[in-house]
Amino acid sequence: MNIPSFTSIQNQVGRKEYNSLPSPGLCLPFLGHYTIFLETTEPLKRVWNLYKKYSKKGLMLMTVLGQNMVIVGDFDTLKQLFNNPDVQNRGHGDYKKCQIAGKVSMERGTKLQPLGGIFLSQGKIWSEQRRLTVKTLKDFGFGKSSMEEIIQDEVKQFINYIKQFNPTEPREITGLFTLPILNSLWKITVGESFAYDNPKLEKIHEMLGEFVKNIVHISTFLEIMYPWIFDLFPNFLNRQSNIDIHKSLASMMRESIDQHRKTLDVNSPRDVIDTVLIEIEHTEDESSSFYKETGYANLVNTLIDLFMGGSETTSTTLTWAVLYMVREPQVQRKVQAELDAVVGSSRPPTLADRPKLPYTEAVMMEIQRCGNIVPFALYHMSSIPIEINGLSIPANTMICPCIAEIQKGNHWKDGMSFRPERFLDESGGIKPNELLIPFSIGKRRCPGETFAMMEFFLFFTNILQHFSFLPEVEGQVPTEEYFAGLTVIPKPFKSIIMPRT
Ligand code: HEM
Repeated sequence: MNIPSFTSIQNQVGRKEYNSLPSPGLCLPFLGHYTIFLETTEPLKRVWNLYKKYSKKGLMLMTVLGQNMVIVGDFDTLKQLFNNPDVQNRGHGDYKKCQIAGKVSMERGTKLQPLGGIFLSQGKIWSEQRRLTVKTLKDFGFGKSSMEEIIQDEVKQFINYIKQFNPTEPREITGLFTLPILNSLWKITVGESFAYDNPKLEKIHEMLGEFVKNIVHISTFLEIMYPWIFDLFPNFLNRQSNIDIHKSLASMMRESIDQHRKTLDVNSPRDVIDTVLIEIEHTEDESSSFYKETGYANLVNTLIDLFMGGSETTSTTLTWAVLYMVREPQVQRKVQAELDAVVGSSRPPTLADRPKLPYTEAVMMEIQRCGNIVPFALYHMSSIPIEINGLSIPANTMICPCIAEIQKGNHWKDGMSFRPERFLDESGGIKPNELLIPFSIGKRRCPGETFAMMEFFLFFTNILQHFSFLPEVEGQVPTEEYFAGLTVIPKPFKSIIMPRT
């Protein structure tokens, strides 16, 4: 029997354990439900519609290229699952059986080993690396600068950059925030910042862009589920270039770490790298993920993870923010009126103003709800069989939230409309809603949330203090159409960026 037919039979047999779970339509050998994605230009809407039709008790099973995944669209069910200590893995519990560990170890040029860093790690490595990252990103800053000052410096550079634009010429918005957001992240992690035309910044941007594109490419799924394809055809779907990008990114991080080691002052950390190097210096426990060479290897991975998690997500959120301001001019004017009344025009908005700007805050919440930029969050994997709502999810199943159902489903009544007032109470104060979960929920919830919200608030309020965003052609607003990658990015659109007098 050849390898592909053996694999398809194995998948069909494996699916018996999944019989209690509702599933949409025909599940083909090898492809599973993958054809569903080939039939549509709107894969996210397609999965959401299937969820609405086929789900039972908040769950729906899909099989894509051999990987079983349970889609969860009920908030309480998701909350239980993502808080369950046995639903916190990213791969098979035994790293030797984990194809993801095999793939990534190979790409990073190491032997098969448990994955380091935060994104893909699990167990002790994950909890240790995550704990320090959460603490560092919530901290007050580095050296003499607070986190807010670091972001404000970048905002200032960005405002000056936009001021040079010709206001009568419409500008492309998709991509506009990429370099400033990358720059502020590079500043807090590696301690350097660049002018936007610096070739090094452009190079980092290019490498990360390629890296992120490869993560969501079909070849990643194939490499994970059917590694034998790549044993037979090592350069199938351009695999070698994926490996090269991965290795160059890791070696760029290693170079920065080596430079920091030479100039480290343990009493005065300059950035995330220094903070972790100090932890490594203090670690004597050989089993710790911060111990000596293991510590440096984990630092490389953690840095890659911070860039992967923190650059495209935040810049895409800001792109959606401008898109909604162009589509909803009366909302834009109300935010500007609130900023004028509370902050005025003689100083930039600061984080201390945030509690005094409830309408602006409600608009930011509505942008995150409607933009829904990470629509399936990040999958978790069950390490043991899980019983939930009377259904069973076998061990080593991917579990993905359907955030669209939670953030926009029928329970919102007008969930498809952009209406910031839904987050305001009768007296105009903020009325939070637990169903707004752009950063996911539970034990793996985004560790960069505080930092991301600081950036979102400071960039959003500062640009609206200085500029108004108008449609490229009067009366024609951009659509909510998107490209789906690691995040959901609006299709390219232009806006006239008009300075406010
Ligand atoms: C608006 C911006 C952002 C959004 C919408 C966002 C969203 C998310 C989501 C949905 C997850 C998956 C959580 C889970 O597995 O349950 C996640 C994980 C993660 N995010 Fe963010 N994120 C943002 C910004 C950031 C920033 C600024 C950083 C770092 C500087 C960051 C670093 C990470 C990391 C390292 C993880 C993996 C956590 C883990 O596996 O334990 N994110 N993020």
